[in-house]
Amino acid sequence: MDLGVADRRYLIVGGTAGMGWAAAEVLATEGARVALVGRNRDRAAEAAGRLPGEKAVAVIGDVSRPGGAEAAVADAVAHLGGLDGIAVTTGTGMSAHTSLEAATDDVWAAAFDDVLMGTVRSVKAALPHLVESGGGTVVTTAAYSIHAYHPARLPYVVMKSGVAAFTKTVAKEFGPKGVRANCVCPGAIETEALSGLRRELAGARGVSPEGLLEQVMVEEWHMDVALGRPGQPGEVGDLFAFLLSSRAGYLTGAVVNIDGGTDF
Ligand SMILES: NC(=O)c1ccc[n+]([C@@H]2O[C@H](COP(=O)([O-])OP(=O)(O)OC[C@H]3O[C@@H](n4cnc5c(N)ncnc54)[C@H](OP(=O)(O)O)[C@@H]3O)[C@@H](O)[C@H]2O)c1
Repeated sequence: MDLGVADRRYLIVGGTAGMGWAAAEVLATEGARVALVGRNRDRAAEAAGRLPGEKAVAVIGDVSRPGGAEAAVADAVAHLGGLDGIAVTTGTGMSAHTSLEAATDDVWAAAFDDVLMGTVRSVKAALPHLVESGGGTVVTTAAYSIHAYHPARLPYVVMKSGVAAFTKTVAKEFGPKGVRANCVCPGAIETEALSGLRRELAGARGVSPEGLLEQVMVEEWHMDVALGRPGQPGEVGDLFAFLLSSRAGYLTGAVVNIDGGTDF
């Protein structure tokens, strides 16, 4: 499917790795101009360099800090000459995968800044540019677990629920100005963290990595996944790119699971 994104301008906050990079790869392959935001300069430069074409730029910034997202958006807009869409894939909030008992106020505050405000700040800074471009697209990232019972990652799930609510509100409020906003809820996706875990477990147990993560998901994490496997970053990248494109022209305010049919 031709996404019709050639020469359109997209900012992927968190695009230097994982699902964000996978989305950038689809867009760049189709001729879009892409800016990738990450905190690590070397990783960002390498990630932009690995994209097809020569239209990608790396922008360094930390959107979990006040001012970080605003500066990154301004930088990206200066490079791209405007903005037609933004996706935010930051907010893994590793310290926020904690129970109510274990989560201190500091853990909640860090989750607020990383998981929720990283998205709020980035989208808020991008919206005037999207409106100026005649309307544009916003895609945020929550998690399938916002629809499930996950007491062991409470601050994360609470803040990700906020990301979904925020996105639906943006869709309603900015729809009349031509802006669409959708929220993607991934299940277990084999980005760096999970592929590293697959290798680590295989090493520790002296077994082959092949099939190991699939087995652990079902037998040890008790995940009920219809497809019986983790998703691949490219599968989520395709969804992001579609939602960012005008091919998804009547889709807004949606909270879309991409989780292989995960019930837990
Ligand atoms: N993978 C899964 O199984 C899974 C499941 C459900 C939901 N999700 C959600 O999906 C999203 C993407 O996950 P992923 O696995 O693709 O993540 P990832 O591989 O860890 O990539 C995260 C990207 O965001 C950048 N980043 C992180 N914090 C940042 C900050 N404060 N400011 C700017 N850039 C920042 C990272 O680069 P630097 O480190 O250099 O900054 C990296 O480019 C996350 O929101 C995650 O919570 C993931």
